[in-house]
Amino acid sequence: MARVVELVDGFGRRITYMRVSVTDKCNLRCVYCMPEEGVKAKTHDEMLSMEEFARVVRVASALGISRVRITGGEPLARKGIVSLVRAVAAVPGIRDISMTTNATVLAPMADELARAGLNRVNISLDSLKSDTYARLTRRGDLASAIAGIHAAQRAGLRPIRLNAVVLRGINSDEIESLAALTLKHDWDVRFIEFMPFWGNGGLFGEEYVVPIGETRRRVLALGAQGPAASAQSQSGPASYLRLRGGLGQVGFISRDGDEFCGACNRIRLTADGMLRPCLLSEASIDVTAALRGGADDDAIADLIRLAVATKPESGKSRGADGGWEARPLSQIGG
Ligand code: 5AD
Ligand code: SF4
Repeated sequence: MARVVELVDGFGRRITYMRVSVTDKCNLRCVYCMPEEGVKAKTHDEMLSMEEFARVVRVASALGISRVRITGGEPLARKGIVSLVRAVAAVPGIRDISMTTNATVLAPMADELARAGLNRVNISLDSLKSDTYARLTRRGDLASAIAGIHAAQRAGLRPIRLNAVVLRGINSDEIESLAALTLKHDWDVRFIEFMPFWGNGGLFGEEYVVPIGETRRRVLALGAQGPAASAQSQSGPASYLRLRGGLGQVGFISRDGDEFCGACNRIRLTADGMLRPCLLSEASIDVTAALRGGADDDAIADLIRLAVATKPESGKSRGADGGWEARPLSQIGG
């Protein structure tokens, strides 16, 4: 059934997808994402409650939002996450709920999350070597993440997408072996071009970037079936191909997402209650005060409309040193 999408931005883009970041915190400290000491913890009061997240989703759904992704930080690190999934699944008009997770604590929760209404997961998996995985995540255990992936599969959370950030000299020797996972499993493996963020602790700079074209060429050398298809409609800013005999697809996500801005269909809600029209822009609209000040649903709807109306045409906003904006993705809900 066609739904009315009321959220159309100034460039004619229909906004149907909301990413909800439920926490800044994470049980891991991936070197490309967070400093060793983690991010400054937001107080409980600074963060929206599960009821508040669910209310914003309910209002947004009446305006045409039909797909929700729950992100962090690590969303499974936040208490009450299963009830949030259940509350979002109960919103009429929401037909797809996904989650971005490192999967290290997913195994014991996968069934419950699926029963609550979670449809699928994107799992961060940057290495298949336990020592490299531990070094990259600073405290992660590869076996737990793999157990999480298999539990997601058994729970019927599909399609399973694995995301790997490629860092030169660290896991760049694993491009072929990660891509080859799609030969044995019907998992999608997506390579993400590393974005040097100012906010990631300054540990990693441009020298670690493997241009996405280089990654794609190495995967193509393994033998692709047909030409690389560009699939930006459902999947966001990625292009995909399939290895010969592959069960899943291999995707490539460029940090210059600019070419995909034209197809952008999303807005974000951060853990501290800011609506962010664009990942790469600092602009944000606070919904916390309205939520807590007794505002009615119409007033919340107006804030969502305002956020959509301020979506920039493109998110290009590099800093003077070539780095991207100051907030690491964990705090935006990448
Ligand atoms: N560059 C690219 N991707 C990043 N992510 C986090 N930080 C970065 C970065 N600096 C992405 C990873 C991870 C997800 C949570 O966010 O894909 O899996
Ligand atoms: Fe945690 Fe994901 Fe950031 Fe790694 S990339 S520290 S798993 S939020």
